[in-house]
Amino acid sequence: METLLEFKNVSVAYGGIQALHDVSFQIPKGEIVTILGANGAGKSSCLRALSGLIPLKGGSISFRQEVLSSWAYKHPHRVALKGIAHVPEGRGIFPELTVDENLDLGAWSVAGKSKQDRERVFAYFPRLKERHSQLGGTLSGGEQQMLAVGRALMSHPTLLVLDEPSLGLAPQVISLIFRILEEVNKSGTTILLVEQNAHLALQVAHRGIVLETGTLTLMDEAKNLLNNPRIREAYLGNH
Ligand SMILES: Nc1ncnc2c1ncn2[C@@H]1O[C@H](COP(=O)(O)OP(=O)(O)OP(=O)(O)O)[C@@H](O)[C@H]1O
Ligand SMILES: [Mg+2]
Repeated sequence: METLLEFKNVSVAYGGIQALHDVSFQIPKGEIVTILGANGAGKSSCLRALSGLIPLKGGSISFRQEVLSSWAYKHPHRVALKGIAHVPEGRGIFPELTVDENLDLGAWSVAGKSKQDRERVFAYFPRLKERHSQLGGTLSGGEQQMLAVGRALMSHPTLLVLDEPSLGLAPQVISLIFRILEEVNKSGTTILLVEQNAHLALQVAHRGIVLETGTLTLMDEAKNLLNNPRIREAYLGNH
């Protein structure tokens, strides 16, 4: 199996506080991998380090056998150009721009055909088509999350990275978004998903990574994690 993304002994610190300690894992091309962990475990820090939003204190991150982490910090646009799209915690859409304009910004890294790509996003999320001229800031929370995911898809990423896409959303919207993520994955996009809702995440993921206070304690196939008594107790509320 081809490895798309590799973390090798990644450490991250904020001032004197270490948020990630020697985190190592590999993500195979074509899979959905989820990072599980309690609040403050370091899940978002993994994604922020990958996208070049924070520096590494040690270790390296490679994408398609290229070490990104030697130059990525402060160059998130260059990371995006490599084919990594990040849907951040809190969505990060532009409230003063319309749905169409938000989507087109997602296509900045690909030349030309944004109209055609919008139609692909609208096919996934018809609600966005109905509201294409509405300002982003006036959309409901669920619609904003659809827009954030849609905008990331506009660049046809090789790796789609999402930080808690289900946060604060109604169950119907959550199941819609997760269904789309599965479709996007089947069409060839690898997905790295951070999710509080471990049960939901392990339903769609091939593999899961468990972080505890900045340390990777377990990586296994999703079906094994779903049956692991310790994981069931800690993250699944014995679902
Ligand atoms: N900008 C920052 N400055 C200082 N400490 C930070 C900063 N960002 C994160 N931290 C700390 O790093 C640790 C990991 O944070 P991180 O946001 O990666 O956790 P998380 O697993 O995403 O948590 P959550 O589930 O609450 O989103 C936490 O202890 C947090 O307080
Ligand atoms: Mg987080």
